[in-house]
Amino acid sequence: MTSDGTFRTAGSDPLRFELDPGTVHVWDGSGPVDPARYPSFFALLDDMERQRAERFRFEQHRIRFVTCRGWLRLLLSAYTGLDPGEIRLIADHYGKPRLGDQPPNTGLVFNVSHSSERMVFAFGLDCMLGVDIERSRNITHLEGLVDRICSQAEKNHWLSVPGDRRLEFFFAIWVRKEAIIKAQGRGVSLGIAECVLSNDLERPVSLPDSCGRTGDWTLLGLDYPDGYQGAIAVDRRLDSVYRHGLPVQLLIDRLL
Ligand SMILES: CC(C)(COP(=O)(O)OP(=O)(O)OC[C@H]1O[C@@H](n2cnc3c(N)ncnc32)[C@H](O)[C@@H]1OP(=O)(O)O)[C@@H](O)C(=O)NCCC(=O)NCCS
Repeated sequence: MTSDGTFRTAGSDPLRFELDPGTVHVWDGSGPVDPARYPSFFALLDDMERQRAERFRFEQHRIRFVTCRGWLRLLLSAYTGLDPGEIRLIADHYGKPRLGDQPPNTGLVFNVSHSSERMVFAFGLDCMLGVDIERSRNITHLEGLVDRICSQAEKNHWLSVPGDRRLEFFFAIWVRKEAIIKAQGRGVSLGIAECVLSNDLERPVSLPDSCGRTGDWTLLGLDYPDGYQGAIAVDRRLDSVYRHGLPVQLLIDRLL
């Protein structure tokens, strides 16, 4: 964090695939996935991923999964120096992928989220790290969903927001809670309503025991210009968060 208490999120910082424990890198991808690149991305995946790709019923979901995993492997390759196809990924009991040669939340850690035409990748060191992105969309029974994911205090705060801002505020809460449960790794079974946020949404005020000390966590919203909301959650204090668009040069060097 800088001296004025804000995070550095400069997209113009040089692309360096080097991390220290107080830094998180966020990579944003947007736009429709390009089916022409499918074979190149598919070639980077391991057998399990290829089998999973083939099980998708809808082509657009298959293409998105393969593109996202392909990018994940390209980025991991840049951080580790390994060939994208050599990287061994395993998923824990609740599905969170990690590098296969190290224990959870140790060494290079990462998390991925995708929604509609956006994907986002976060990388850090030696921490619980989660990222979430959602496209804002109308939700029927919004108040019922708020009842399910919020504590009473959070709901009261949500109700105090003017009606025309409640949907946006709901998504701001939702992505932060999802980022926390993705950082911890247990997914929705962690109990999303038990992850309680401060009114300004800048920190958790109460978390399940398995998340460690609530006061250590960093929560950061990711703004998007096009109707999406995102957030990262990390179980430590951070000095810097760098955001970049996906490094297309990496794709050109490796695939084209
Ligand atoms: C993890 C979870 C919150 C993802 O929510 P989502 O908003 O639908 O999806 P997102 O796009 O944000 O994230 C998906 C990515 O998160 C990662 N992921 C998967 N499971 C994860 C987990 N438990 N924790 C953190 N990240 C996870 C994967 O990289 C996944 O991408 P992939 O599908 O391309 O592999 C949700 O799927 C969940 O709760 N899963 C747990 C399932 C579970 O409890 N299974 C029990 C098995 S016994």
